[in-house]
Amino acid sequence: MRNPPERYLQTLQEHFAQVPTWFSGDATIPIAERSTLRTAPLTTNQDGKGTAFQRWFHFKEAFSPAFVTAAIESLGYRPKHIADPFGGSGTSAITSQLLAIDATTVEVNPFLADVIKSKVNHLSAEALRCHAAEFQARLARTHNDLACLNHLPPTFIETKDKQRWIFPLQVAKRLSQYLTCIDAIGEPDIQRFFKVVLGAVLIDCSNVYVNGKGRRYRSSWKSNQPTSKMLDEMFGTRFNIAFEDILHFEDRPRSRIDVIHGDARTALKQVTQPVDLVVFSPPYPNSFDYTDIYNVELWVLGYLGCSQDNLRLRRDTLRSHVQIRRPYEMPHHPSAHLETTFAALHQQRDQLWDTNIPAMVGAYFCDIEMVLTQCHRLLVNRGKVIMVVGDSRYANVRIEVATIIAEIAKSIGFGAVATREVRQMRASAQQGGRFQLAESIVELAH
Ligand SMILES: C[S@@+](CC[C@H](N)C(=O)[O-])C[C@H]1O[C@@H](n2cnc3c(N)ncnc32)[C@H](O)[C@@H]1O
Repeated sequence: MRNPPERYLQTLQEHFAQVPTWFSGDATIPIAERSTLRTAPLTTNQDGKGTAFQRWFHFKEAFSPAFVTAAIESLGYRPKHIADPFGGSGTSAITSQLLAIDATTVEVNPFLADVIKSKVNHLSAEALRCHAAEFQARLARTHNDLACLNHLPPTFIETKDKQRWIFPLQVAKRLSQYLTCIDAIGEPDIQRFFKVVLGAVLIDCSNVYVNGKGRRYRSSWKSNQPTSKMLDEMFGTRFNIAFEDILHFEDRPRSRIDVIHGDARTALKQVTQPVDLVVFSPPYPNSFDYTDIYNVELWVLGYLGCSQDNLRLRRDTLRSHVQIRRPYEMPHHPSAHLETTFAALHQQRDQLWDTNIPAMVGAYFCDIEMVLTQCHRLLVNRGKVIMVVGDSRYANVRIEVATIIAEIAKSIGFGAVATREVRQMRASAQQGGRFQLAESIVELAH
């Protein structure tokens, strides 16, 4: 693997301040000096607005590229292959690519899988420029046709008989023109890029906002609704931001980045190349369903065509919520801490807002166990699994996620297991609001 040219390295450092020392050509760090993640790592991406690629789409739950580079550096050698089973907005994948390392990432949400694919695809800036000009010309001569939005749930588009709607009629009409023009793009990679850009502005062009509690109407939304002009302006701005990164990083390394759209619990089984580092942050067992959070993008962009599609996607996501009924089982590997927690939850059953919460918590660790079993199979001898996890609390029972995962990991066969708290998160109102919950790093090795 060659080091990239100076100009490229400089650009990389501008955006990803923390680059492993070996990257600039230093000798490999001696084994004795190998670090674990020393300083509190950037497990959140709060200042990602100015970071290349991260700024394409606001993904609140992303970790920062600096966290990925710190995890890589903690290996003490240049890895050949990195995996992230919960890809999200693609932080691990794009960071690996920029550092010329092969990567495999899995993401269950088809819109997010497309966000990752668009980021790691080697699109030509010139081709994008030509398509953008064609797109604008086509948009100007395309009539609106709401039929292409017929599949949307009833609350999406304004009609006279509704009390609430996500998109005013004029925005919905304009969206139908955008969707028709995107459909007309012949090249799949370019088409995906345009779709991702449109996805990135949908919430800002709607009457709602989305946070950890789900979708909410903006205050005074009725008197302050978005317009089709706003959609045009936001699409243009967002397109230019993403285009700038494509142009700036056009000569980035061509390492192999596999983006698997699927369920990590099963999809990891198809990976055969040994992995040096598995770095990820799974959903936390806090009843937050990612399918709800990205529902507007999924429906409008056509990833969901009917309620069955929505149900299927919920079933494929980790059992970290109780939005749908599904089989719940406990992990096969023992964890004394999980048993105590499970018993405590059962005792508090009457206080829980959903009686399936104890079973869901058990099943959550069963899902994590499936993923860790595959990580154990794939991990090279000197490699590491580094995961960011968060605690939850139900009816005063704290789910100490890192401790439970550490116990399960030991019985799966990981010889070196360490956990470290990195930050305190505020619990949701449903979980008691005032409580602080720990976010931790779990580090595993053979
Ligand atoms: C905390 S986010 C990961 C964020 C990511 N580290 C980043 O920097 O963007 C967790 C992701 O896991 C995905 N997910 C949930 N269940 C999954 C499953 N069964 N297989 C793969 N991905 C899943 C969610 O859609 C979500 O994007």
